[in-house]
Amino acid sequence: MRTHVADHPLIAHKLTALRDERTDSPTFRRLADELVTLLAYEATRDVRTEPNQIRTPVAATTGVRLASPKPLVVPILRAGLGMLDGMVRLLPTAEVGFLGMIRDEATLLASTYATRLPDDLSGRQCYVLDPMLATGGTLVAAINYLLERGADDITAICLLAAPEGLAAMQAAFGSSDVPVTVVTAGLDERLNELGYIVPGLGDAGDRLYGVV
Ligand code: URA
Repeated sequence: MRTHVADHPLIAHKLTALRDERTDSPTFRRLADELVTLLAYEATRDVRTEPNQIRTPVAATTGVRLASPKPLVVPILRAGLGMLDGMVRLLPTAEVGFLGMIRDEATLLASTYATRLPDDLSGRQCYVLDPMLATGGTLVAAINYLLERGADDITAICLLAAPEGLAAMQAAFGSSDVPVTVVTAGLDERLNELGYIVPGLGDAGDRLYGVV
């Protein structure tokens, strides 16, 4: 498994504003959206392309276009939805599948409550959107789900990660034949006793959409 912590002053600046408890929901949504587009640039470094012959006004030349099958973007509901627009802005021809996962606040275990994905993901590069890699339970379960359907290259994009979450990902996918990558804007200190990332940004879903 590969981990990439984005190191860019613009990302650090936006992440700091996102963390700030005074940031209201509309601003939080805009910042999350902008951060994802910046992270997506890093995360799609190995997106598959194929040759594309075109003519410029001056000459014929061979460029590239995204290869088929198109990449699949998978936001994990509900907080991953806040990352979708920022991702498809960079990959407008990608297909989008949905995975609803919920974490039991007592056991911290993740389970699936909704799926809308192609049955066969053979040959697909998948980009999983989950803002907070905390215990790793949700992301590990989501990635296992995609692997069972045949995905052959998976990149998770997370706004923040905790060392505990990365360790869980490493334990699950460290020796996986399928490449698994985590791209994040920040690696924080630890989890607290409630499973929140410290210093973190609080509950990403609540900050995006309010407490429901
Ligand atoms: N989920 C969140 O929204 N925030 C955390 O800090 C951990 C998990």
